Amino acid sequence: MSYILALDQGTTSSRAIVFDTTATIRAIAQREFRQIFPRPGWVEHDGREIWATQVGVAAEALTRAGISPREVKAIGITNQRETTLLWDRRSGEPLHNAIVWQDRRTAELCDRLKADGLEPLFRQKTGLVLDAYFSGTKLAWLLDTIPGARSRAEAGELAFGTVDSWLVWNLSGGTLHITDASNASRTLLFNITTLDWDDELLATLGIPRAVLPRVVDSSAVYGETAGDIFAATIPLAGMAGDQQAALFGQACGTAGMAKNTYGTGCFMLMHCGAQPVGSRYSLLTTVAWQLGGCAEYALEGSVFVAGAAVQWLRDGLGIIRSSGEVEALAASVPDSGGVCLVPAFTGLGAPHWDPYARGTIVGITRGTTAAHIARATLESIAYQSADLLTAMEADAGIKLAELRVDGGATANGLLMQFQADLLGVPVVRPRISETTALGAAYLAGLAVGLWRDRQEIAGHWQVDRVFEPAMGREQAAELRGRWERAVERARGWAAP
Ligand code: G3P
Repeated sequence: MSYILALDQGTTSSRAIVFDTTATIRAIAQREFRQIFPRPGWVEHDGREIWATQVGVAAEALTRAGISPREVKAIGITNQRETTLLWDRRSGEPLHNAIVWQDRRTAELCDRLKADGLEPLFRQKTGLVLDAYFSGTKLAWLLDTIPGARSRAEAGELAFGTVDSWLVWNLSGGTLHITDASNASRTLLFNITTLDWDDELLATLGIPRAVLPRVVDSSAVYGETAGDIFAATIPLAGMAGDQQAALFGQACGTAGMAKNTYGTGCFMLMHCGAQPVGSRYSLLTTVAWQLGGCAEYALEGSVFVAGAAVQWLRDGLGIIRSSGEVEALAASVPDSGGVCLVPAFTGLGAPHWDPYARGTIVGITRGTTAAHIARATLESIAYQSADLLTAMEADAGIKLAELRVDGGATANGLLMQFQADLLGVPVVRPRISETTALGAAYLAGLAVGLWRDRQEIAGHWQVDRVFEPAMGREQAAELRGRWERAVERARGWAAP
């Protein structure tokens, strides 16, 4: 038997999963790491901790699977996207904590760029909007803030990378400084049509080319692990941002197929073929993956807070002891009792793009209980996803036949049913819910010939459960109207 080791470096934990050739999970290891909040709206990770936890769980997963590194045909990497690192090429030491995708510190810089009329340029070249979410302004902030960083970057002494680059750099013992096109397409620096870094955008943000990684395919043998990391060297053969990897793992390989991943946030991606499709409804156009030098594209809607809202019920409000308790508490009432909760804790992503929105709860009465708040929290995840789907269907000009779902919260039947009810389309949960890691494994496995082609891979995909819509369309429209009014109240709250 041959195996693939998938490394899934996420926002709150590093995970490693061993898959066999039938795409069956043989072992999983996971470790959480610190979330650093230096100021309101700022979120950082320690790059060394990201690396230490990731390499730690990789070894642990191999031990748990009872296999030796020699039996691993390739490593595939998938990662939290946009999170920005800057390190010294000689020592390999980060110059600063990683600035996490959720971090809002560059909101005002984005405002200035917008005021200068630059948004259409960025949008047309990168498919993104000018928001603090993406790496480009975070990197500009690092180069502006760390004394001497810009001139050292110009002299080629420093390396920028998203988490994929950082992991490959470390796995290869500092010999590979690369990123794949799906990750590059989240930086605000990458032209998604020419598939290269864009000099005009680099000049606008003051980023020297010398600091950037080389952009490569999402599936190819890039090199191998350095001798001292595992007992044998292993080819590094696949890389993609976690949401794009999940699209690949869900076998959404043709235009019009879509998936929604319920994690810290919610990320809905629809494959839209070999040409980028521009959005009229504030969605993102992004590279799904690049294979053999050719890109395929996706439309994406990103919701910043989904599962994180349930964590807030646990850690902030203390009304549940573990995230798993939320379903029972929410199910103890028939509905949210008119309560709407908008979890705009770090602003609002697509389709609103409001960095100054903040969380709000409306509709509280004397009869409101913790159960209503819990239910409203779960519902908010489904409402935000429904907003994305509506925008997506309008952009793509098609009505979705079904929505494939994955991520931890898909175990929550109440949420999945409410999602189907709101959308009016079946919500389909596959047997393997670890589709992000699976996507990375597939990309790596394809590069080393473990699987023949994408058709063979699509053959592995199997349904676990279909949630059919049961709510009347009139009631769904009424509920969504109420949600829209609540969103209006959350907007602009923290504006300067
Ligand atoms: O764009 C951010 C996204 O990649 C984060 O994913 O799974 O770490 O919440 P996750």
